[in-house]
Amino acid sequence: MSNLQPINFTRGIPANESFPLADIADASTAVLKSHGAGVMQYGPALGFPPFREWLAEWQGVEPSQVLTGNGSLELVEFLCRYMIQPGDAIFTEAPSYDRAIGIFRRHNADVIGIPLESDGPNLDALETALKKRVPKFFYIIPDFQNPSGATCSGAKRRRVVELSRQYGFTLLEDAPYRLLRYRGTAEPTLYSMAPDRVLHMSSFTKLIAPGVRAGFMLGNAETLGKIAKVAEDTYISPGYFAHGVTYEWCRRGLLPPQIEKLKTLYGPRLDATLAALDKCMPDAKPTRPDGGFFLSITLPEGVRTADVRTAAAKRNLNLADGMAFFPNGGGERFLRLPYCALSPPEIEEGIRRLADTVKETRN
Ligand SMILES: Cc1ncc(COP(=O)(O)O)c(C=O)c1O
Repeated sequence: MSNLQPINFTRGIPANESFPLADIADASTAVLKSHGAGVMQYGPALGFPPFREWLAEWQGVEPSQVLTGNGSLELVEFLCRYMIQPGDAIFTEAPSYDRAIGIFRRHNADVIGIPLESDGPNLDALETALKKRVPKFFYIIPDFQNPSGATCSGAKRRRVVELSRQYGFTLLEDAPYRLLRYRGTAEPTLYSMAPDRVLHMSSFTKLIAPGVRAGFMLGNAETLGKIAKVAEDTYISPGYFAHGVTYEWCRRGLLPPQIEKLKTLYGPRLDATLAALDKCMPDAKPTRPDGGFFLSITLPEGVRTADVRTAAAKRNLNLADGMAFFPNGGGERFLRLPYCALSPPEIEEGIRRLADTVKETRN
């Protein structure tokens, strides 16, 4: 085994140095003083009321349209438990977030992947799939998609919303990276276009830290109430203390400067990844996102990600499986590169090792 420093292009984790530890410590003390019993006691499964009220005001909705959970991923699990029967169809982009695909599979749904392009799902493929089968929902990550880095264009968003109305299916919009835009202008959320058809999810995992386990869903009050009932039957109430700390931190106005801090930290890491790829792997044709945590490349013809992964491990370069992101096969040459938790020198070294590994695998 190599004694090189390990470099992980595996999961999309935030940088340790991004966590606002001192402000979180202050917010913890403050919320214990202001809402001590409130954050220590059980409460409604929809979430800690002051946190839901703050989220509602921030998002321009009513508190009844906000459900909080222990991270956003578990809300997907609860939604499936409420909505999905074995054999129901769920559409995802292909590729899509591997953990979400895993949840859909565990509910014995037929997971149908709609090919993803650099500007969102292929609409012809979506319409063809809809003519065969209408899904319970289409799980879509329109902003800086995990794993590809793609962002859905405004025109495609409008068409996807139209199709959801025409065929009568829900859109599950997952947007944890949306606020991490390093350049360019944002497209409207699907939720803003059709609040009656969309369940919108986001999370403080990428904005504060995974440790606060604070995710939320926006949608109609009745649906959220049904999901909250599953949550209540599972964990009674979500982590009120962590959500109280998150609430207090947000109430103090610390979110906007934190987002600016993250952009300053992560934007150069995206640029460093693209520059290193252009230099060491000029044929890699990476996606060129304007934000988020990921970009992706397609390895050269005849080179499989699985083989590169095995060979890269000998150089202490750890890579993720490409195929797990594709619900119906494919992805043999797909490689996701999460860059946020690596410093620019680590990124350059990692891409150098990747380029050497690909060359070696090709020979
Ligand atoms: C698209 C997407 N959704 C959800 C999550 C999970 O977020 P949380 O930590 O809020 O459960 C992630 C984490 O990587 C993600 O990439």
